[in-house]
Order: sequence, then C-alpha cells, then structure tokens
Amino acid sequence: MSRIGIAGTGRLAQALGRLLLQTGEPVVCIAGRDPQRTKLAADFIGIEPVALCDMPARASRFLIAVSDGAIGDVAAVLAACVSGSEMALHTCGSKGVEDLQPLRDRGIACGTLHPLQTVCSPEQGTAALRGAAFGISGDEPAVRWARQIAASIAGQALTIGTAERPLYHAAAVMASNYLAGLIDAAQILMATATGSDADTARRALAPLIRTAVENILERGPLAALTGPIERGDIETVQRHLAAVRTLPFTIENLYRAAGLHTVDLAQRKGLAPAIAQEMKAALQ
Ligand SMILES: NC(=O)c1ccc[n+]([C@@H]2O[C@H](COP(=O)([O-])OP(=O)(O)OC[C@H]3O[C@@H](n4cnc5c(N)ncnc54)[C@H](OP(=O)(O)O)[C@@H]3O)[C@@H](O)[C@H]2O)c1
Repeated sequence: MSRIGIAGTGRLAQALGRLLLQTGEPVVCIAGRDPQRTKLAADFIGIEPVALCDMPARASRFLIAVSDGAIGDVAAVLAACVSGSEMALHTCGSKGVEDLQPLRDRGIACGTLHPLQTVCSPEQGTAALRGAAFGISGDEPAVRWARQIAASIAGQALTIGTAERPLYHAAAVMASNYLAGLIDAAQILMATATGSDADTARRALAPLIRTAVENILERGPLAALTGPIERGDIETVQRHLAAVRTLPFTIENLYRAAGLHTVDLAQRKGLAPAIAQEMKAALQ
C-alpha cells in the first residue's frame, strides 16, 4: 500500500490522520512549519514528525490540510522535493485543484477531500469525521483515492464539479457557520428579554434548538416548520420586527432575511399567497 504523509498540524490534519491510522490506512508522517507543533501533532496521531521537504522520501501520497491560503505555498515546496510521488489531496471546501498546480506539473494526480463536518479540536474531529460526507473533485486517480479514504471511514463521497464548488461550500457554511450566527442572535434576544447572561440564555434555548434540528433533519424543513410565519400570523411578526429594531442592525437583518425565506417555505406548505405577500412586504 502506498504510504501517506500529512502536511499541516492543525485540527483537521490531526483528526483525519488519527482516524485514518485507526482504520488501517498507511499514514506514516506529518509535516508542519513549527517543529514543536509538528511533534505534538505527530504524537497525537502516533506517527513520525518530518520536515515538509523530507515527506516525499517517506510517503508517495499527500494529504494537505493547511489553512486555505497556504495550500499553494505547501504544494510549491512539495513540488520542489518530489520524486516518484503519486497523488495529493487538499481538504479545503471552497477551492478546486488549482492551488495544487505545481504538483500536477510534476505529474502528480491531484484532488480534494473536503469533510462536510466541523472540527473544532483534534479529539472531537477524530470521532466526528467517521461517517461524514466528503466533497471530492479532481484528477481521476486522486478522486478514486479520495473515495477510498471516505469509504474507509464509513463516509459518504460526494463528487463536486469545479464550477459547483462555491455553491457546495456555501451550503456547508450555511448549515454550520450560519447556524452559529443564527443561534448567537437568538441567544442575544433571549438574554436581553430575560436579563440573563449568554450561557443561561443558551441553556434555556437548548431543548428547543435540539428538537427543532432533530425534527428538521428527520422530517425535512417543510414538515418540521411551525410558528407565526407558518400560521400566517402577521401581527406577531410585526411585533417581533418592532422589538428587534432596538437591537444591533445585524440581528434585525438576520430576522428579516431568514423570515423571507421561511415565508417561501410556508407557502410551499400551503400558506395562502395573499398572506405570504403581506408577510413578505412586512419583512422586506
Ligand atoms: N476545521 C474544520 O472544521 C474544517 C472542516 C473542513 C475543512 N477544513 C479545511 O481544512 C484545512 C485546515 O483547517 P484546520 O481547521 O485544521 O486549520 P487549523 O487548525 O487552523 O490549522 C491550520 C494549519 O495550517 C498551517 N499553515 C498555515 N499557514 C501555513 C503556511 N504558510 N505554510 C505551511 N503551513 C501553514 C498551520 O501551521 P502552523 O501551526 O505552522 O501555523 C496549521 O498546521 C483548511 O483548508 C480548512 O478549510 C477545516
């Protein structure tokens, strides 16, 4: 089996490295800029720390999990040291293989393996990546390797065309980062309404958030939707609008934007067009 080297010592590099090693993939070394951080990451995974330029001597397949803006630099350094290397994948969601061009120029098949998962620490990521979906694109041999990696950790492989990557990544951002933004806004409203601190407000909202997300995922947004927009209760929406106007404009904008899309959803669920129109006029 071709040996795998990891470039990058951050959260995803460590989580993916440990999980792949646990599943029997031949991960042998990890390279980073800082020797101390590289040693810590290597110890976490249980592999050898190396300098980036020494990686091609130990592994012929590379997983590049560095900050989005550093992928091109890392590819250029690796390209200057490779010989007999086979493949490289990066883990960024918004980019295709363009930043790996220096490696492609050396005849290395390149692709992407982007986990549709949020990794906030190596430990949490090691557990969360198992069974995740992966956005995959690139040169055919690299795509095959990426699919094999996804399969080895019980993941779902999603093939993404180059032109569709921004849409794919926007979906991931909305499902994850925007959820954090939305919940933060709800937390601020709740803390303001109850005179409590943010943690107390979040604890109060937690059962509602959990049940709502579970219902949405199990039944779909249409069946799970409840509340004033679904009921066509314009007066309540107007009272909300008057109240959120007193808070930072980002929260009011979020209420309006999310509300407008929710009106569309409610219309698909049977909200009368005339009421939907009136509701949209209030939210615009
Ligand atoms: N975390 C997630 O939830 C997640 C999910 C999906 C995809 N991703 C993708 O995975 C990649 C890594 O993300 P992460 O969350 O693991 O990031 P991270 O924890 O912030 O780690 C970033 C890594 O990039 C390295 N790096 C930064 N600039 C560099 C440069 N110029 N040259 C060499 N190395 C450099 C850092 O090295 P130093 O320690 O030397 O600074 C560090 O090892 C990104 O492409 C990200 O979009 C992340």
